[in-house]
Amino acid sequence: MTNAKRPIGIFDSGIGGLTVLKEIIRILPGEDTLYLGDTAHLPYGTKSEETVTKYSIQNTRFLLQFNIKLLVVACNTASAVSLSALRKEFSLPLVGVIEAGARAAVKVTKNGKVGIIGTETTVRSSAYTREIKAIRADIDTIGQACPLFVPLVEEGWIQDDITLSIVERYLTPLKKEGIDTLVLGCTHYPLLKKTIQQVMGSGVTLIDSAEETALEVKAMLTQLGLIAPEREGNLPAVAAARRFFVTDVPLRFEEQGSRFLGEKISTVERIDLG
Ligand code: DGL
Repeated sequence: MTNAKRPIGIFDSGIGGLTVLKEIIRILPGEDTLYLGDTAHLPYGTKSEETVTKYSIQNTRFLLQFNIKLLVVACNTASAVSLSALRKEFSLPLVGVIEAGARAAVKVTKNGKVGIIGTETTVRSSAYTREIKAIRADIDTIGQACPLFVPLVEEGWIQDDITLSIVERYLTPLKKEGIDTLVLGCTHYPLLKKTIQQVMGSGVTLIDSAEETALEVKAMLTQLGLIAPEREGNLPAVAAARRFFVTDVPLRFEEQGSRFLGEKISTVERIDLG
């Protein structure tokens, strides 16, 4: 297999990273992908840095067996606390979701006030703030953990009165701070975009890390000369191969994953990371 034909490896704690995979498929439809959801250990967002890093290393080792050409850490929490450990431990090209989101926020803000929402561990890590300030030190960042958003999205309560009140409760203080840009720093939050925009108003630009990350994957593969070549054969083109792995029973992943990915997930393989 030529270098460029090798698959892209992607991991997350569960189904959330499928929002990143969805964007990768949209922007890079010819790429083979392997997706690992570490469902036995989710959620990552309430766990310690050490624990999330241990899981992230196990996930990466598993995906490396498939000769992946690039790894996407499609989980904000894992990107926030484990990316530097992964960079030390492994030598393959790595893309996390934080850097791309931070860069986009810096580009968009006009008044220099950026809000960041995510899991408790992501917000506590200040990873987005560090990245943003490394680009422009004068930007003010305000973090807000929104732990109830993940279960609401997983329950499918996307446009619901209860969800609207919870979004208002978490985000009203950010609105009062006068931010003009809000980073959706968690895999699940793009699904709440409409409600979040409704609460924040049209003067606040939402940054979707999933889309920004997919664009970064494309830029990195292009730079490395690793974009998959055109698929051979007659039309319709041979579809790119997609494999899905989980570390616990696949039922919930299959059911809910299709909503996150926007297409049916038919085969999910259960694995044991040991
Ligand atoms: N994937 C996680 C993130 O983006 C959210 C779910 C979890 O806490 O595991 O932070």
